[in-house]
Amino acid sequence: MHPNLLEITDLKTHFFTEQGVVPAVDGVSLQVKRGGTLGVLGESGCGKSVTGFSILRLVRPPGRIVGGAIRYYGRETVNGEDLTALDARSEALRQVRGAEIAMIFQEPMTSLDPLFTVGNQIMEAILYHQDVSKAEARKIALEMLDKVRMPQPADVIKQYPHQLSGGMRQRVMIAMALSCEPQLLIADEPTTALDVTTEAQILELMRELQDELGMAIMFITHDLGVIAEMAEEVAVMYLGKVVEQSDIQSLFTDPQHPYTRALMQSIPKVGQKAAGRLEAIRGMVPSPRDIPSGCPFHPRCASFIADLCNVKTPRLQETKPGHAVSCFLYNDGGGINGV
Ligand SMILES: Nc1ncnc2c1ncn2[C@@H]1O[C@H](COP(=O)(O)OP(=O)(O)OP(=O)(O)O)[C@@H](O)[C@H]1O
Ligand SMILES: [Mg+2]
Repeated sequence: MHPNLLEITDLKTHFFTEQGVVPAVDGVSLQVKRGGTLGVLGESGCGKSVTGFSILRLVRPPGRIVGGAIRYYGRETVNGEDLTALDARSEALRQVRGAEIAMIFQEPMTSLDPLFTVGNQIMEAILYHQDVSKAEARKIALEMLDKVRMPQPADVIKQYPHQLSGGMRQRVMIAMALSCEPQLLIADEPTTALDVTTEAQILELMRELQDELGMAIMFITHDLGVIAEMAEEVAVMYLGKVVEQSDIQSLFTDPQHPYTRALMQSIPKVGQKAAGRLEAIRGMVPSPRDIPSGCPFHPRCASFIADLCNVKTPRLQETKPGHAVSCFLYNDGGGINGV
């Protein structure tokens, strides 16, 4: 079996708007190990969600994948195939969505249908992928709600999303995502909207379920504290690109990119929640319609080298085994991808 479950190579997903092209994801390469956890970290707007949507081919016009490959080494339906090459409405992709790769979306309220009961929605997800009767689907739905430690699952199953608290809705989302035992769970800021206590519970629950089911997780967040708790590998994104990639140990003991270092300095104190959107680094994230020349981080960088960083674009390059960074402080800009 291939050691990686997912390999993204030079992915480009752009939005073709009337005001111009937005290169939301612009040359991202990532790997998710079988059963492992990859944390994807970065400020608001850097392309984390669009990367997640691209994997499941959920990018809607005016957005489009314009380059790169997403190889998924799953169970049987799609093995080593490039998901970007599949028809978005094909049976193969339908099998991948939900049954192989499931996603918990950033806004639970927008992804749960207010008009249907919680039970209906979980059952629908199960019936879509598994050849079971309605009664069996109901039983699985109850088991899943129990697994995510929903109090009184038999009552909750009859309720509508608005009747539940944020934490409960997030549990429903997780139950729904896990009901088909996916190989990969893409969790897009699954706890950002929750209070610290609920967040801690949900994170613990996800770790437990991961151990039990052996699934891999791609954990998208702007919160380094959450990354520290959940991830084994980390990709730090800035303006549609991965600027640093490392195992968690090396990232925390030896953060290299000035952007990563700045993020580290903005970790909220224990017990405090990060502001909903991270803006702790001086200056604003530039608009992706107007990406700075050279290294896109240079206008905000504390270590800016004039006539270099604003002129040449550094490439992601290994500085030690398993740790790569795109920054002229460390490399000559050659790049591990050889591009
Ligand atoms: N439909 C769209 N049309 C135009 N641009 C879009 C569209 N959807 C996303 N984008 C752009 O793509 C960029 C990346 O967005 P994305 O949602 O991936 O960011 P993110 O890293 O998930 O941020 P956040 O932390 O706020 O969730 C943003 O700058 C956004 O403006
Ligand atoms: Mg997002």
